[in-house]
Amino acid sequence: MTLQTDIDTAAAKLKGKTPQEVLTWALGNYKNISLASSFGAEDVALIDMIAKIKPDAHVFTLDTGRLNIETYDVIAKIQQRYPQLQLRIMFPQAESVEQMVSEKGINLFYDSVENRKQCCYIRKVEPLSRATKDLDAWITGLRRDQTANRSTMETVELDGDRKIAKINPLIDWTNEQVWEYIRINDVPYNALHDQNFPSIGCAPCTRAIQAGEDLRAGRWWWEMSNQECGLHVTSDGHLVRAKDVKQ
Ligand code: ADX
Ligand code: SF4
Repeated sequence: MTLQTDIDTAAAKLKGKTPQEVLTWALGNYKNISLASSFGAEDVALIDMIAKIKPDAHVFTLDTGRLNIETYDVIAKIQQRYPQLQLRIMFPQAESVEQMVSEKGINLFYDSVENRKQCCYIRKVEPLSRATKDLDAWITGLRRDQTANRSTMETVELDGDRKIAKINPLIDWTNEQVWEYIRINDVPYNALHDQNFPSIGCAPCTRAIQAGEDLRAGRWWWEMSNQECGLHVTSDGHLVRAKDVKQ
């Protein structure tokens, strides 16, 4: 059987299952599997679910070097709350960052989309390649209603570029369901969520949103389109954000 056939079979079997059922299946089915966590609301909910199924499960985070202090604080709280969790903190290649910022400036991302993509590549995408290199599957906190690009994603899919499975247990969940889970289970969360930051990335590229704005309007807000960092886009990916489609 090909990997694609395996994944199609699993996807059919897992249709309509709860995130916990999907995680139980995934953690049992794949030997080398890890959650990718930015420690946003979806990811802390997933950490709590995973820790209740397999307390020493693997989690990795991409520390870009430009995260908010509140993000480091929630990482520390999660480490205290789930001490058995195997957390791997990935850093970008120092030489690449040094060269980039000495050539283009420390805040190069505001100057052009090309610069922003270069920064996201060096600080996130390349470390993601190293984090997933020896994995059979990675788990994400993606939700279908976050962006138009994500609307066609499935609970289990083939990550075509990395040739491994990608598991998205919360793909059908709403933002409200995520927050209900966090409240009921008293999960530590990023303090910025209480300051109108529904979606949190790097500090210089994330701002609070105004009432009525799209939940991701605070990410790379100065760019009018093409606003994904490349973590969840295939090499030939089509990038359209939900807020762009609505306009
Ligand atoms: S992004 O592509 O726009 O930055 P987003 O913030 O929506 O992604 O997060 C979607 C999912 O991508 C998260 O639930 C998590 O699985 C993964 N992810 C995003 N940022 C990181 C990070 N810094 N480290 C690890 N995983 C991340
Ligand atoms: Fe760089 Fe901003 Fe991308 Fe973070 S989100 S890697 S600071 S461009």
